[in-house]
Amino acid sequence: MSAVTSMPRLSVERVSKTFPTATGGSFQALNEVALDIAAEEFVSLLGPSGCGKSTLLEIIAGLQTPSSGRVSMDGEQILRPGPERAVVFQHFALFPWRTVTGNVEFPMEMARVAKTERRRRAREYLSMVGLEDFGDRHVWQLSGGMQQRVALARAMACTPKVLLMDEPFSGADAITRELLQAQLTKLHRATRKTILFVTHSVDEAIRMSDRIVVMGTRPGRIVSIFSLDDATREHADKMAELRAAIWNLLRKEILPLGEGEAGNEIRGEAPST
Ligand SMILES: Nc1ncnc2c1ncn2[C@@H]1O[C@H](COP(=O)(O)OP(=O)(O)O)[C@@H](O)[C@H]1O
Ligand SMILES: [Mg+2]
Repeated sequence: MSAVTSMPRLSVERVSKTFPTATGGSFQALNEVALDIAAEEFVSLLGPSGCGKSTLLEIIAGLQTPSSGRVSMDGEQILRPGPERAVVFQHFALFPWRTVTGNVEFPMEMARVAKTERRRRAREYLSMVGLEDFGDRHVWQLSGGMQQRVALARAMACTPKVLLMDEPFSGADAITRELLQAQLTKLHRATRKTILFVTHSVDEAIRMSDRIVVMGTRPGRIVSIFSLDDATREHADKMAELRAAIWNLLRKEILPLGEGEAGNEIRGEAPST
């Protein structure tokens, strides 16, 4: 029994990924990445562009295969996409000709969920993201932030065990982004789904995560992992320390690219020390 309960929800075992290059060589996007994620965890993948965050997320989604190593969910090897792992991208791909409710119901229609159950779930998850009054609107009548919440409700309504999110809030303005973060935190607390969240914002990762996986480039790999909790989040000193520690790691990853590129890659204000 204890063996079952202690099994990680997601397990990434020594995953490497190489891509062929145009010149006939190969490019190593991920090198021996190992990571276990527990069932109720909110884990962020944080790192500069090109460190393999999306590649790792897509391998866990089953959209890509590792060149070596293995990924599994609840002990079972992941070989293809599955309804137990929902993916939310930055570009949320809603259908403009459908209403908000119609969009949330679409994947449930594909999965042949009965109509009354579809309606019920659409209502439940739309209200969880604060859009209970917008079900009859068309998506083009909503702001970008609201559209991303529809995409989130759509993913949740399929009742996945795992939510894989690739920079879902990067297109939002700063205020909307904070609201979306607060809403996702609330949703995580209410549902205790496993969430793997890709971001290149230090502050975004710090605000929401149970653990932050800092990744580096050339080759893409895990550099360090930080755990945090709400008690720590209330300690200004500890937070400043954590932020500084993360930035120290990121600086090492970014600076070799040259000063010009450095500033734009990671969002948030770097501590001066
Ligand atoms: N299909 C592909 N073919 C070749 N190279 C790729 C492919 N997908 C990603 N890469 C390369 O792998 C590296 C990691 O990409 P990615 O996972 O998208 O990084 P991130 O999401 O952290 O920005 C990048 O250098 C990218 O150019
Ligand atoms: Mg990416």
